[in-house]
Amino acid sequence: MAIKTIIEPFRIKTVEAIRRTTREERQRLLEAAGYNLFLVPAEAILIDLLTDSGTCAMSTEQWAAMMRGDESYAGSPSFTRFRESVQAIFGFKHVIPTHQGRAAERILFSVMCKKGHVVPNNTHFDTTRANCEFVGAEAVDLPIPEALEPARVHPFKGNMDTARLAELIERVGASRVPLVMLTVTNNSGGGQPVSLANLREVKQICARHGIPLYMDACRFAENAYFIKLREPGYADKTPREIAREMFRHADGCTMSAKKDGLANIGGFLCTNDDAIAQQEKDLLILTEGFPTYGGLAGRDLDAIAVGLNEALEEDYLNYRIVSTAYLGNHIAREGVPIVQPPGGHAIYIDARAFLPHIPPERLPGVALAAELYLEGGIRSVEIGTLMFGEHATMDLVRLAIPRRVYTQSHVDYVVEVILEVWQKRAQIHGLELTYQAPFLRHFTARFKLAASDAATAPSRSKAE
Ligand code: F0G
Repeated sequence: MAIKTIIEPFRIKTVEAIRRTTREERQRLLEAAGYNLFLVPAEAILIDLLTDSGTCAMSTEQWAAMMRGDESYAGSPSFTRFRESVQAIFGFKHVIPTHQGRAAERILFSVMCKKGHVVPNNTHFDTTRANCEFVGAEAVDLPIPEALEPARVHPFKGNMDTARLAELIERVGASRVPLVMLTVTNNSGGGQPVSLANLREVKQICARHGIPLYMDACRFAENAYFIKLREPGYADKTPREIAREMFRHADGCTMSAKKDGLANIGGFLCTNDDAIAQQEKDLLILTEGFPTYGGLAGRDLDAIAVGLNEALEEDYLNYRIVSTAYLGNHIAREGVPIVQPPGGHAIYIDARAFLPHIPPERLPGVALAAELYLEGGIRSVEIGTLMFGEHATMDLVRLAIPRRVYTQSHVDYVVEVILEVWQKRAQIHGLELTYQAPFLRHFTARFKLAASDAATAPSRSKAE
């Protein structure tokens, strides 16, 4: 009989203690942080699911590669290894290292976009939207309609609505659309994959109008594995072959190596366009560094060179996708509303459905995240009205799973805490903003309890 248990495909060589806190301590810390979990010290977090970005555990091979890191200012062999590793997977002509994904975004949008431009994406991530808007362009999200219904199951919920893309380009004119972006997997839309069929269709529309297609490639390996599992014709292909095919349809990409680069810092920008690459490198030198390091240490480049390949290993991807789904399926089975199906890097709780008595303007996602911390020391993040303001179509709480960091018993604990909060959901109050910054306000915003929610709960949930 074949053994069915899926195990973590690694053993632990170094451990890091995590510290328990009391409920009273957490209450005090939460109030001191104005209910914003970004402002709670990490030592006071037991299980940190704030992000899967830069939080992965590196492998022995990555640590060994770091020792080979060459810190020459120009022409470092670490850069050569980095570029070769990136090109072998992504296939683009120019590889420009940056300190993380948003630096690649800033350079890309500074070079390609200006006021009056429109940039379509399946769904812009917060930094992508902010960088696009910062240069005066308009960021337009075009997810398929199924993506806006959290409970709706669809194998490729990250797909772009191609009819709306074609209509948008016709309406505003191709000259106002400097590029189209596809985010794989679609982080803000629930960590959902984009199919190769959709990618090809988007590319065809772009090609018809002479518009380049860029990928926001942060979680490209997870997307490739979903294609292998779900898209007819790809079951026998390796994740690497699928990733290569994905990028063959694109003209460039931005990448945060803090996700599927399995590194703690780093990113890059790629393009096949010589003239664009030149302008990007000029800007890189101004703000990030010389094009053979781009704001990173040589050892970081080496860690990424190895990490990109490890992220494509099938055993790793299988464990990754299965363990994320394990969390989602265990809470969904007890009635907790989540974005279905479970995403690659995270589970997203539908906070509007979890807390129907709290209207979006009282920030149900932020309130739920605060409660999960209070109950069990778990840190998560709102992706909703606080993060996106009037652009928010859902209020989600994201439980992002750091790569190779937590074991199944950690996840069992998280399940128990969420189910405990689910039992007490009627007692949770909404929040009111007491401070907000002019952009990317979720990082620093502060709140106070909105005492009135509980009293008005029944009528409000009906009115919705
Ligand atoms: N694009 C997507 C889809 C992302 O998820 C992120 C980061 C970025 C771009 C920016 O990359 O952080 O290296 O500058 N996402 C992290 C998260 C922060 O928690 O989802 P970065």
